[in-house]
Amino acid sequence: MGIFKKEAPLPAELPQHIAIIMDGNGRWAKKRGLPRTAGHKKGANNMRTIIDYMNKIGIRYMTFYAFSTENWKRSQDEVNAIMDLLKDYLEEALERFQETDMRMRFIGDRSVLNPELVDLMEKVESVSADHTGAVVNMAINYGGRQEITAACRNIAQKVKEGSIHPDDIDEDMISANIFTAGQPDPDLIIRPSGEYRLSNFLIWQAAYSEFLFDEVLWPDFSTKDLDRAIREYSNRQRRFGGVK
Ligand code: FPP
Repeated sequence: MGIFKKEAPLPAELPQHIAIIMDGNGRWAKKRGLPRTAGHKKGANNMRTIIDYMNKIGIRYMTFYAFSTENWKRSQDEVNAIMDLLKDYLEEALERFQETDMRMRFIGDRSVLNPELVDLMEKVESVSADHTGAVVNMAINYGGRQEITAACRNIAQKVKEGSIHPDDIDEDMISANIFTAGQPDPDLIIRPSGEYRLSNFLIWQAAYSEFLFDEVLWPDFSTKDLDRAIREYSNRQRRFGGVK
């Protein structure tokens, strides 16, 4: 017997949709005496690793919080650095998402983003649109309240035009008017870095999600940490408000 304890295998029933708040990049860099942007770079690289791993083990939907509607409050230098990393990532994704069967979608308000970035986002979405593998949602300038507000506005417009009646508005209609329309809600939401908040991420979709908070900072969050999160998830009893 070796000195290392063998990890238990992954459960047969995996979460269908995993969402991740990629937190702790700044602290990761600070601990090493590096600029915060070095943490974001390492965080973006880790996202690449985790996407490939989740695809390999058979996770069908994944959502990553890359930039929130509140992140504009950071210094101009930091915002620029994150936008540059995003641009690099999108250029690479444009190649890579043609070769894999994964599909990429962007969620969030694009109207205020750099048109060059938006053009890349549209191209990545379009080259992967008919792929049938895992769906990767990237949240950029995303905020849950903003998403629900936009859905209300859309629905109100339809009421005004007379195509629907207020009594027709139900939960399914709201789900159909948000960015993740047609996708299952996240089963598991992971937030590393020791923060215990949702921070306006998928607030509609998270109604019955399981949460996994981890002390590890995102750049250090490994495939082993993900395995552990999935095993912990599989030991939870999801009751969706009922009794089991
Ligand atoms: C939170 O860490 C992270 C962000 C606000 C941005 C996440 C961005 C990336 C992973 C890189 C760019 C993304 C892509 C898709 C290429 P924090 O800065 O709040 O960390 P802290 O709490 O330790 O300060």
